[in-house]
Amino acid sequence: MTKQVHLAAHFPGVNNTTVWSDPAAGSHIEFESFVRLAQTAERAKFDFFFLAEGLRLREQGGRIYDLDVVGRPDTFTVLAALAAVTDRLGLTGTINSTFNEPYEVARQFASLDHLSAGRAGWNVVTSWDAFTGENFRRAGFLPESERYSRAKEFLATAAELFDSWRGGEIVADQDSGVFLGDASAGTFRHHGEQFDISGRFNVPRSPQGRPVILQAGDSDEGREFAAATADAIFSRHGTLEAGQAFYADVKGRLAKYGRRHDQLVVLPAATFVLGDTDADAQEKAAVVRRQQVSGATAIKFAEQLWNRDLSGYDPDGPLPSVDPIVGESTISKGRASVRMNRDPVAVANQWRALAAEKKLSLREVVVEVTGRQNFIGSAETIAEQIDTLVQADASDGFILVPHITPGGLDEFADRVVPLLQERGVFRTEYEGTTLREHLGLDRG
Ligand SMILES: Cc1cc2nc3c(=O)[nH]c(=O)nc-3n(C[C@H](O)[C@H](O)[C@H](O)COP(=O)(O)O)c2cc1C
Repeated sequence: MTKQVHLAAHFPGVNNTTVWSDPAAGSHIEFESFVRLAQTAERAKFDFFFLAEGLRLREQGGRIYDLDVVGRPDTFTVLAALAAVTDRLGLTGTINSTFNEPYEVARQFASLDHLSAGRAGWNVVTSWDAFTGENFRRAGFLPESERYSRAKEFLATAAELFDSWRGGEIVADQDSGVFLGDASAGTFRHHGEQFDISGRFNVPRSPQGRPVILQAGDSDEGREFAAATADAIFSRHGTLEAGQAFYADVKGRLAKYGRRHDQLVVLPAATFVLGDTDADAQEKAAVVRRQQVSGATAIKFAEQLWNRDLSGYDPDGPLPSVDPIVGESTISKGRASVRMNRDPVAVANQWRALAAEKKLSLREVVVEVTGRQNFIGSAETIAEQIDTLVQADASDGFILVPHITPGGLDEFADRVVPLLQERGVFRTEYEGTTLREHLGLDRG
């Protein structure tokens, strides 16, 4: 059977792919920018709007990292405001399970679900680093090895809170003077390793019951957590081969939790450059890559791998001949990718081999290794590629990450979406009203 494609719009704020230096780039703080992207996504019948999260400004070499966009307004405030200017679009926010508390987060999501009439989604992330924790008087309080124990208990506790109201408790009967039909409504008691709380949850059952749960961790534990509890996964594996391997892996984990294949929607992040022809798009993509990786960005990116000050190097010259410093990163703070360089010397050697083989400068190497856009081509080419990847079980759709705020989705909405609709793989109208319905999920 032909699968339907799911599409979401990632707000291109703090992100190494976001180009703020382009004349077309606008504010990523003003409400109008959020409205523009959300309304474009809704006009194109996307499943949801997506906000990433960062709880502390990134630093490098002791200074704020302003080669990328800096600054991020609060997720719930933005999504609640967007609820008022959209009607069907899902509203999904990334909220961390390490530095928050279940009562507060459950209350915020239940409220968002009410305000949006059932469109709330929660991307549960587990970033745990001590640098971020300093913002919360909680530096280093949770070892990395416990990030998913806390996340699991956080989510289970939030579910107890959501389910403490079953719906129908409020009768507000004027004749009898009875407001609450069930005196036990909202009662909860949770005693666990991470949380020990009891009381009354103060938000009655929301339209979706529970928000749609997304998960983005990529470790074995993260994938297991997703298979056990998530409705959707935000992944980095957007190509055919890597996508198929990831898809088979996570879907293969569902059965042991008694879950069906269609209860977990796999959505890789995807960047794109659209042109009038494929050749035009290739040319544009090369320009965008150089905007994304300026000379200064290339040096900073190399510093993250080398874990050394490389400010004396020429980005248009060769790679440093010294080796990276192995061990705890001292140069860059608050950035997930730094933690992933488990063997920096080996990676540096791969970069050197690449530079030698293709005769590349430091900047050109960084352009290569930080990855080209997932989709480059005419509208026809991109529509075909998306459909092919979804039908080949490399994904169930994509979370699109435009490189320009806020107009970066406009062309995609106008030119690619109609072609997906013509192919019969993307909705022409919303059939349901809730995010769960858009994603084809069971009721929460
Ligand atoms: C595609 C993707 C997007 C992510 N976005 C965020 C984010 O916006 N904020 C955040 O704190 N962590 C984010 N993360 C980090 C993970 O969700 C996760 O919490 C962290 O990597 C540790 O889990 P892991 O070891 O299982 O990967 C993202 C990860 C992936 C793969």
